[in-house]
Amino acid sequence: MNNATLAQTVVSPTHISLVRLAQMRDQLDVALQNLAGTVAENHRGMERCLAMHSDIFDWLNQHATAPQAPGWQYNEFHRNELLSMGLLNFGPSDRLPVHDHPGSTGLLFVLNGSMAVRQFEIEDKQNRCVDIRMSDEHIVNAGEFHIFTPDHGNVHTLIAQSESVQVLDIVLDPYREEARTWFMPVNTENNDGTAYSAVKLRRKPSTVCFTK
Ligand SMILES: [Fe+2]
Repeated sequence: MNNATLAQTVVSPTHISLVRLAQMRDQLDVALQNLAGTVAENHRGMERCLAMHSDIFDWLNQHATAPQAPGWQYNEFHRNELLSMGLLNFGPSDRLPVHDHPGSTGLLFVLNGSMAVRQFEIEDKQNRCVDIRMSDEHIVNAGEFHIFTPDHGNVHTLIAQSESVQVLDIVLDPYREEARTWFMPVNTENNDGTAYSAVKLRRKPSTVCFTK
């Protein structure tokens, strides 16, 4: 094994290789075309997103290939009024608190590893404490993607299914942070995360690292 090969293999468990990134280009094209088909034809955010295709890979080469700290993290590398882009990193069994993306359409493209996407329905939305119930769950593997819209799958969580997971996160029509809701369980006993009473938080939960 030469030094170059060694450098590619002896890395943090959350490392994603440049080879893997190169393999992802075609799949990302497919994912972006699907996202374009989901939003209005003349959506300026989508036009901007497609125009930035090669820039996205430049960013990923810088950010996704670096070893990451333990725990889940979100590192945003682009934001304007049209779209935001970032990289989600998960360690083993990491999960995001259930949350929404009010008014936004999003693409979650798995670069490495495997994650579960759970979608939720909310009862009595106006109350501060609500009952939430899982309405769908599916696994998304490396090279695959998941799309949510303002009306479908907008309330969700992501759960790592492998030792490490890296996800490219693209959100069209990004919301104001204070408009977002986090649904934190009132009681975690006997809670498998599929149905529970939750208190709605407007601020980022302090127990997680979230750089957005
Ligand atoms: Fe999300």
